[in-house]
Amino acid sequence: MTGESFDAVDVIRTKRDGGTLTDPQIEWVVDAYTRGIVADEQMSALAMAILLRGMDANEIATWTAAMIASGERLDLTAVTRPTVDKHSTGGVGDKITLPLAPLVAACGAAVPQLSGRGLGHTGGTLDKLESIPGWRAQLSNEQFRTQLDDVGAVVCAAGDGLAPADRKLYALRDVTGTVEAIPLIASSIMSKKIAEGSSALVLDVKVGSGAFMKNADEARELARTMVELGRAHGVRTVALLTDMSTPLGRTAGNAIEVEESLEVLAGGGPADVVELTLALAREMLDGAGLTDVDPAAALADGRAMDTWRAMIAAQGGDVDASLPQARETHTITAPSSGVLTRLDALAVGVAAWRLGAGRARKEDPVSAGAGVVMHAKPGDEVVEGQPLLELRTDEPARFERALAALDDSWEVGAAAGLTPLVLARLD
Ligand code: URA
Repeated sequence: MTGESFDAVDVIRTKRDGGTLTDPQIEWVVDAYTRGIVADEQMSALAMAILLRGMDANEIATWTAAMIASGERLDLTAVTRPTVDKHSTGGVGDKITLPLAPLVAACGAAVPQLSGRGLGHTGGTLDKLESIPGWRAQLSNEQFRTQLDDVGAVVCAAGDGLAPADRKLYALRDVTGTVEAIPLIASSIMSKKIAEGSSALVLDVKVGSGAFMKNADEARELARTMVELGRAHGVRTVALLTDMSTPLGRTAGNAIEVEESLEVLAGGGPADVVELTLALAREMLDGAGLTDVDPAAALADGRAMDTWRAMIAAQGGDVDASLPQARETHTITAPSSGVLTRLDALAVGVAAWRLGAGRARKEDPVSAGAGVVMHAKPGDEVVEGQPLLELRTDEPARFERALAALDDSWEVGAAAGLTPLVLARLD
């Protein structure tokens, strides 16, 4: 007798054979895995069975609740402003959190944003912010709540107490080819977001080569699943499906994305970054019940920039320090005059990663100055010989593999058929 309610092998067999797991089976397996009773190899087999067989809505809801219950759920009820967060499923050049969090805070909401570091070709918000001298990602729960009240926006690392089952399971999925299961992605993201304690949530679900979800049907299913999970846990949740076939903005890296975000906060910046920042800000303010505030005005008149400065300074960042610059650059120029018709997000993400902006393993360091600056975006007219892409790194030996990633990733032609940035809204 083990004293355990179930046997892991029976749970695995049920899902392997296409059956439905019961609530007690799910609650047990998630808890027993967190306690170390269910072994990694057993959870790997179960994750693969889930990837191949899927889960119904009740199984996903119970799995998510079990992951939340594996740790603490932050209580933000004492925060005086309405709380609202956003989550992006990740993309190339996706620096939107940087201008968005202070902007929404400047409009009267509180934005509690627990973020991650990048893995693979998609950048992590914490990596970008860590290029600011002195800025620190680690805050205690108390510091988190105080900053939320005083400044209105916090972007920091999630503490160990939040959804520990997910931390363990995500690391396992990463090395067992089981990341791409919609039930597992949805429960992983939503368990952390629900445990974070925000009252409303806006999801930016990316679609395209640079995203997890390569086609709109999959992205829609992921979005729908997450919206339903949020609702079921009392979090007002909406999702925007947005294009990630080409990078967002004109930079992909760390410090260079902070620089671009500062341009947006100063009232300028690339049109697509501004458009998405405002679209998400409007959804967040709606979720927070602040429907009569205009975020475009807060961007234009400097209020969002003031909140950015307070937010960075509260976490030790020197807002006036110059940002690290890469030592070496290599420029790709336009071979002919015309219109840039295509610039592939995945290729740019992989190139930035190979230049040192991203990491291959969780414990690897990232280079603050490395990345890709895009001097043209799809739809822009270019003239022969003008710079198209500028590769930046501290280690010139990295250029060759970064250039290889960019082979066939862009085209100069006659006219570009442009995709809208916001593809759909789900609530
Ligand atoms: N991000 C997460 O937090 N979890 C996933 O499963 C995928 C992306």
